Amino acid sequence: MNKTTLKPEPTPPPAPKKAPPKGLSAVEMGAKQREISVSEFFTKNRHLLGFDSPRKALLTCVKEAVDNALDACEEAGILPEVDVKIEAVTPEGQAPVAVAQANRFRVTVVDYGPGIVREHIPRIFAKLLYGSKFHRLRMSRGQQGIGISAAGMYGQLTTGKPVQIISRTGEKNPAHYFEVQINTKTNEPRILEKKQIEWENHRGTQVTIEMEGRYQKGRASVDEYIELTAIANPHVKIVYVTPEGETRVYPRTFHVLPTPPREIKPHPYGIEFGILLKMLHDTKSHWLSGFLSSDFSRVSPRVAEEICTTAGLSPKSKPRNIMGQDAEKLYKAIQATKIMAPPTNCISPIGEKAILTGLYKQIKGDFYTAVTRPPAVYRGNPFVIEAGIAFGKGPQVGTPEQKKAPLAEGEGSDKEVELARVIRYANRVPLLYQQSACATFQAVLETAWRNYGISQSRGALPAGPMVIFVHMASVWVPFTSESKEAIADYDEIRKEIKLAMQECGRRLGVFLKRKEHAKSEFHRRNIFELYIEEVVEACKRLKGGRLAAEKLKSQLLKIAMKKTGGEKTDEILGKKGGPEGLPDSIIVTADGVEGDVPDMSGEAPVAAPAVPEAPAPVEAVQEPEPKKPAKKGAGKPAKKAVKTKRGRGHGKK
Ligand SMILES: Nc1ncnc2c1ncn2[C@@H]1O[C@H](COP(=O)(O)OP(=O)(O)OP(=O)(O)O)[C@@H](O)[C@H]1O
Ligand SMILES: [Mg+2]
Repeated sequence: MNKTTLKPEPTPPPAPKKAPPKGLSAVEMGAKQREISVSEFFTKNRHLLGFDSPRKALLTCVKEAVDNALDACEEAGILPEVDVKIEAVTPEGQAPVAVAQANRFRVTVVDYGPGIVREHIPRIFAKLLYGSKFHRLRMSRGQQGIGISAAGMYGQLTTGKPVQIISRTGEKNPAHYFEVQINTKTNEPRILEKKQIEWENHRGTQVTIEMEGRYQKGRASVDEYIELTAIANPHVKIVYVTPEGETRVYPRTFHVLPTPPREIKPHPYGIEFGILLKMLHDTKSHWLSGFLSSDFSRVSPRVAEEICTTAGLSPKSKPRNIMGQDAEKLYKAIQATKIMAPPTNCISPIGEKAILTGLYKQIKGDFYTAVTRPPAVYRGNPFVIEAGIAFGKGPQVGTPEQKKAPLAEGEGSDKEVELARVIRYANRVPLLYQQSACATFQAVLETAWRNYGISQSRGALPAGPMVIFVHMASVWVPFTSESKEAIADYDEIRKEIKLAMQECGRRLGVFLKRKEHAKSEFHRRNIFELYIEEVVEACKRLKGGRLAAEKLKSQLLKIAMKKTGGEKTDEILGKKGGPEGLPDSIIVTADGVEGDVPDMSGEAPVAAPAVPEAPAPVEAVQEPEPKKPAKKGAGKPAKKAVKTKRGRGHGKK
C-alpha cells in the first residue's frame, strides 16, 4: 500500500464564522413601541367590521346607514321612513360598465327623522367608537358606536372620497351640509366642507358614501337585507332604488311605533369583578348602600343592606375605599343575595301579530305561526326570543301537503331535498352572514323537527319548504364580532330559542296531522260513496224494485259522512272554520284564509305589543318556565274564519 495515499489531504483553514445576527436590545425594541389608533387597527382588520369582500362591503354600508336611520326615528318617536338609493359609479377616465360588473357604487340613505346637531356630525361620521348607544342599557339596533364611521372609512380607503352628510333638525332650522374624512392616525374627523344649504326635507339626515363594492342579487344581498328588514319592521316604510334603477316600495303595514324601550341600569348579576371595581371608583354615592341601590337595577335599600351584611361591610363605608379582599367579599355577597330579575321594559319585542303580518306579507305559504317567549336573562341582561314559521308554497303552487319521505339516519341531504331557510334577527336587524356560528342556527338544528312531522337529516336543517324566523331582542346582544353577524352561544339564549322553536313546531305538527288525517278521511268517504251506489242497486234488486232507493242512499251517505269525521273533515281541509287550537296562526287554503289575519289594509292602526314583566324571583329568571303547549281548543279561542281571497303577488320564497 502506498504510504502517500494514506496521507490525509490538508484541510483548508476554516472560514471565519459569520457572527449570528445580533438581537435587539430592550432600548431598540422600546424605540419601536407606538400607540395604535383604533382607526389604524380597523383599517388593517376591516373584515372584523364586515368589509371583507366588495359584495359584503356594499351590504354592510347600507345596513349601517339604515339601522341608524331606524334607531334615530324610533328614539325620536317618529314613524320611520327611509329612502335607500344605490348607484353604480364609473371612475373618471373609465368606460361605463354593466351594473353586474361595476366595482364602485354610491350609497345614499335618507331618513325623515330627528336630524343631528351640527357639532356632532363630523365625529359621528368620521371617528370610530363615537356614539350615543354604547354606554346605555336599552334595546337598539346599534350599540357600538362604530358602524357608520367604519362605512365612511371604508369608502375613503377604497375611493378616496369623503362622506357627504346633510342634516336638519327641524323646519325652522337650516340644513347643514358636511364633507368629512377620518384621520386614521388620530381617529379624528377632518372637515373638508361645511355649509348651510337649502334642503327640501324639513328634518332628517342624508348620508352619501362612495365605495368599492359589488352588487349581486340573491342570498345575503342588499335586496335580501331590505326585504327581511321589512318583515321584522312592519312599522317602517322603505323606498329602495336598486343599482339597476328599479324603485321598490315596502309600505308600512303597522301604523304605530313599537313601545319605546326604557333605559335600565346594570343588573348586579351581570357585573364582572373588574367592572364592579370601576363602578366603586366612579360612583357619585358617598355610602356603599347608596351605591348599591342607586347604581344597579333591582337593588332596593333593603337588598343593599342585606348585601352589606353578607359581605361583612358597613353600609356607610365609602365606595372608593372598598378594594382588595373587601371588594371580593362584596362581589361574592352580591352573587349570594336573591335579587329580582331586571326590568324588561328596556326591550320592545316585535310581537306575534306583527311577525305574522311580516311573514304573511313577504313569504308565500300555507301555514304561518309566531311565538313571543316571556323575557329571560343572560349575564344580567334581559332578552326576549321570538320565533315564527311560514310553511308550504302557498295553495296556488305545488302540493304542500305532500310529505317528503324522511331521510335515513346519517343520510346526506341530496340536492332535491329543499331545506328550510332560517331568517335571523337581532334587535330587528337581519343577520345575513356567519349563519353556522350563530346560536339561533344551532338551536334550529337541535330542535327535533321529526316530532312535528318534518323530515330532518342528522345535523342538518329540517326539510322545506319552510321559512324559520328567529329574533333576539335585548339591551345587549352578544355578537361574536364587531360586524354583528352572529349571536354568541350562551346556554340561556339557546335554550329560549329552542323553546320558541318547539312551540312553533308543535303548532305546525298539529296543522300537518290535521291535514293528513282529514285527507285520508276524505279519501275513505269517496270510496264509501262509490260502494253506496252499488249497495243501493243490489238492495233494490233483492226487494224486486220495491225500495225507496233515494232514501236509502241518503241514509247511507249520512253514515259515511259521520264515519269519516263529519263536517270537521271539510273544515280541516279548508272548507270552513278557523285554526282551532293554534293561537297566532294563519292557514292559507285555495279557498281563502283561516285564522287571525293581521290587518293589512293600511288604514286601521294595530296596537303595539306590550312587554310582559320578567318573572320576579331569581330562580325563575335563570330557568324561565317553558310555555305549556296549548291543548287543542285551549288557549285563545279559535277565531271565526276570515275568508279573504289572497291578493298577494309578492311571495319571495
Ligand atoms: N341618521 C341618524 N340620525 C340621527 N342620529 C344618528 C344617525 N346616524 C347616526 N346617528 C348617531 O350617531 C351615533 C353613531 O352611529 P354609529 O352607527 O357609528 O354607532 P351606533 O349606531 O351607536 O352603534 P353601531 O356601531 O352598533 O352601529 C349613533 O349612536 C347615533 O346617536
Ligand atoms: Mg349604527
